[in-house]
Amino acid sequence: DSFRQPLKYVKGVPLISYFAEAMGPLQNFQVWPNDLLISTYPKSGTTWVSEILDMIYQGGDLEKCRRAPIFMRVPFLEFSAPGIPSGIETLKNTPAPRLLKTHLPLSLLPQVLLDQKVKVIYVARNAKDVAVSYYHFYNMAKVHPDPGTWDDFLEKFMAGEVSYGSWFQHVQEWWELTHTHPVLYLFYEDMKEDPKREIQKILEFMGHSLPEETVDRIVQYTSFKEMKKNPMANYSTLPTEIMDHNISAFMRKGIAGDWKSTFTVAQNERFDAHYAEKMAGSSLSFRFQL
Ligand code: PPS
Repeated sequence: DSFRQPLKYVKGVPLISYFAEAMGPLQNFQVWPNDLLISTYPKSGTTWVSEILDMIYQGGDLEKCRRAPIFMRVPFLEFSAPGIPSGIETLKNTPAPRLLKTHLPLSLLPQVLLDQKVKVIYVARNAKDVAVSYYHFYNMAKVHPDPGTWDDFLEKFMAGEVSYGSWFQHVQEWWELTHTHPVLYLFYEDMKEDPKREIQKILEFMGHSLPEETVDRIVQYTSFKEMKKNPMANYSTLPTEIMDHNISAFMRKGIAGDWKSTFTVAQNERFDAHYAEKMAGSSLSFRFQL
């Protein structure tokens, strides 16, 4: 557990301490004309939509999509950890057209991405499922602080005292951005319900088209079952000191509604009250009810 460190606050936002170090250098990064940014609160379907987008860019060519692990194909902007190339370093070896990943809230996003109107695909997921997935991830990805018990973690999640801060603020501020910036705002649950329909939405947003067989192939190879066994998608190539898949697999369950097997009745009531307060007046609030 030697990598575990307390979170570091940057402009009021708690971050993994190693990532906090990358925030300064990241402000000067050069945007390229056809960069596409994948933005999410953690555990909301980032890896899934990243694999879909790389498959679209590679025209459904499986071999090409197995050229490197997902975190090398889609540089994770603010990523930094001992002994692994940082997001900024990975960017240097990434040819155009580039896919970029971030979990940053708008207050920490490099301004140049907004100024240059970089296209964004945002994925949001039900808060309770995010909290459960995040708890297991804190346990297995040892750049996080120790999560404590599930009950402790859930309190911290509700208070926004987890890495990247408040889920409530994140999903709402990126939703607001859709009014002024090219953002395709997707939902994990919609992707589960009908992945083909959501891939079509992505293609339309990008102004791309692909033969139907290729879209079907992308649906097939980006299913949870396929991605779980694909070492280039499932994060199993990272050293166990960084991610220990024996504690919990990165590709853990991949379903909607897993929170029901984890939340107690009391936790659920408390969460619902908190949710109603934080999401009051938001047009998004009903999108997340299961
Ligand atoms: S990260 O670390 O924030 O980038 O994680 P992220 O990729 O956003 O989220 C991980 C959760 O997404 C699930 N997942 C999938 N679900 C359905 N289909 C596919 N193809 C897929 N790929 C990843 C993964 O299992 C994590 O959710 P949980 O609930 O923990 O299983």
